[in-house]
Amino acid sequence: MHLTLRQLKVFKTVAHCLSFTRAARELHLTQPAVSMQIKQLENSAGLPLFEQLGKKIYLTTAGTELFHYVRNIFQQLDEMEQVLEQLRGVQSGRLDISVATTANYFATRLLAKFNSCHSNITIKLDVTNRRTLLQQLEQNEKDLVIMGRPPEQMDLVAEPFMDNPLVIIATPDHPLSDLKNIPLQQLQNETFVVREQASGTRSAMERFFSARDITLNTGMEMTSNEAIKQAVEAGLGLGIVSIHTVERELEAKHLITLSIEEFPILRHWYVVHRQGKRLSPAAQTFREFILQQANISPGNSTDTQETSFPIGHE
Ligand code: PGA
Repeated sequence: MHLTLRQLKVFKTVAHCLSFTRAARELHLTQPAVSMQIKQLENSAGLPLFEQLGKKIYLTTAGTELFHYVRNIFQQLDEMEQVLEQLRGVQSGRLDISVATTANYFATRLLAKFNSCHSNITIKLDVTNRRTLLQQLEQNEKDLVIMGRPPEQMDLVAEPFMDNPLVIIATPDHPLSDLKNIPLQQLQNETFVVREQASGTRSAMERFFSARDITLNTGMEMTSNEAIKQAVEAGLGLGIVSIHTVERELEAKHLITLSIEEFPILRHWYVVHRQGKRLSPAAQTFREFILQQANISPGNSTDTQETSFPIGHE
């Protein structure tokens, strides 16, 4: 049986309109051209597809059967087109993401890996602190954001994908360095070099200590994790940072983490977007990539220590 898509399209339109004249108008063809396509299809099928009773045309039994299959064929073609469009989008798309200052320590590695499989996606990366990330989400400026625990009052979709333990860092010769399980109260005798107010690390640290009625002496305030590490190395005090930021210093033994009761503060990293946002194919692919790389699966968060704190409001 020899069929062409063109014949099937003409048949579908005539079967839908039940009129050669209207089908011809819809298809921008002449009526004889429509009749000829239907004649050829009937010849191939070996059966009449329409019958005329008075002025009206009707589908025959064979026509009704064919109409059922033809509708499915065109639905499948539509679906195929959509999938191909998506793939075209993915291959040449743009990805506009923003990550927390602290997340940048691993985000660039993730992006490098993503880029090796999706080199045609152009990536724009913005690195900023939590407050700015929240403003960007509010204004729907970014495809995706990687941040610490998002506030519950915003309409966000937030999926946890990696642990983010906060540790206390000191120089190896610090008087507390050899002690084990140091009580939290003892920290009140120390000075801390801290991140700026708008930082997620800072607010997590404040929630943790205020929930335990402990007031820390905060010395210098700094807007970058690098500055905090250098200040701690220079002996300006202890620091509280994400473990992701000190991997190299710990390995080189320039810094150590202190053994403190209830530490580390267990946090997680989330991939976040506004609820109802239509993610572009590139953004959707990146989101899936991140969740696949995850060391904790979505919905499997063990956010035990943070859940006992007031919900993020910073
Ligand atoms: P930040 O990290 O301290 O660099 O803002 C974000 C967060 O932990 O939420």
